Amino acid sequence: MRLPNSVKLVEVGPRDGLQNEPETVPTDVKVELIDRLSAAGLPVIEAGSFVSPKWVPQMADTAQVLARVRRQPGVGYPVLVPNMKGFDAAMRAGATEIAVFAAASETFSTRNINCSIAESLERFAPVCQAALERGIAVRGYVSCVLGCPYEGEIAPAAVARVAVDLLALGCNEISLGDTIGVGTPARAQALVDAVAERVPRDKLAAHFHDTYGQALANLLAVLERGIAVIDASVAGLGGCPYAEGATGNVASEDVLYMLNGLGIASGVDLEAVTEAGRFVDAHLGRPPASKVNRALR
Ligand code: HMG
Ligand code: MG
Repeated sequence: MRLPNSVKLVEVGPRDGLQNEPETVPTDVKVELIDRLSAAGLPVIEAGSFVSPKWVPQMADTAQVLARVRRQPGVGYPVLVPNMKGFDAAMRAGATEIAVFAAASETFSTRNINCSIAESLERFAPVCQAALERGIAVRGYVSCVLGCPYEGEIAPAAVARVAVDLLALGCNEISLGDTIGVGTPARAQALVDAVAERVPRDKLAAHFHDTYGQALANLLAVLERGIAVIDASVAGLGGCPYAEGATGNVASEDVLYMLNGLGIASGVDLEAVTEAGRFVDAHLGRPPASKVNRALR
């Protein structure tokens, strides 16, 4: 078993998690959550998205969130941007990192961003160009990499094609999203190997949801395949508004517990992340979805 010595954890709860809550979480709570997560040592915290408020009203206050978080040196606070309108809003709000999001499934692309995969890449081209001109780092997402709620199985080659296109647009990291959490370890490894034939492994991130309870197993499997960037969501927040039944991302606490046990450094304090998870769950009025968080109670 060949595992990395260290892993970069990308905290996506404030965006991928809170975008999916039926009630919009107040700006104050989002800001405190993000500040707690940076204090816990998380190097990247996705702070929100500049998408249509008609599509995702839960993220409509992202500019206020960015204005109020206590930005820590060395911590990235990327925001999702689907088009130039979102990019301009992100720049006005002082974003210094962004992410564009494509899908490996045509139907999901249409449901999520109302255009085909090819059209989405056309929209991202000027966004990436404008970002790179300003020295703004761009991450690229590919959704539905291990299955689509509408189309079922997705071929690894389809994922690789989109990943290559995002890389060509200038994305510095490609996050592979098992949006509905249907993957299993051998398929996750096969996917990573297929994509890594065309995109350097050190530019790939694993973004796994835990719908079928497979996320940690899948993460261990891809760590063995050289992946060293992991997306996770505090308290296991989230799901996907355009993927009915999908549960949250793998919980940050669960990932950290596993990494700590494996002796893989992340620079993140498990206790502090657990407290952050309890803080947001107390606001939402429910017990944490993270097993580690419950066990440490
Ligand atoms: P559209 O309706 O095709 O867009 O939506 P449009 O260009 O025709 O504009 C329609 C209206 O939206 C107009 O307003 C625009 O001004 C406005 P109106 O004239 O009707 O008043 N608009 C915007 N407003 C604010 N910010 C913008 C923006 N763009 C247009 N950026 C669009 C296309 C992409 C905008 C829409 O489909 C959308 O916002 N989708 C976002 C969906 C989303 O956020 N999904 C969740 C994130 S993806 C995800 O979670 C997966 C991931 O986690 C990985 C994984 O798990 O696999 C990343
Ligand atoms: Mg996601």
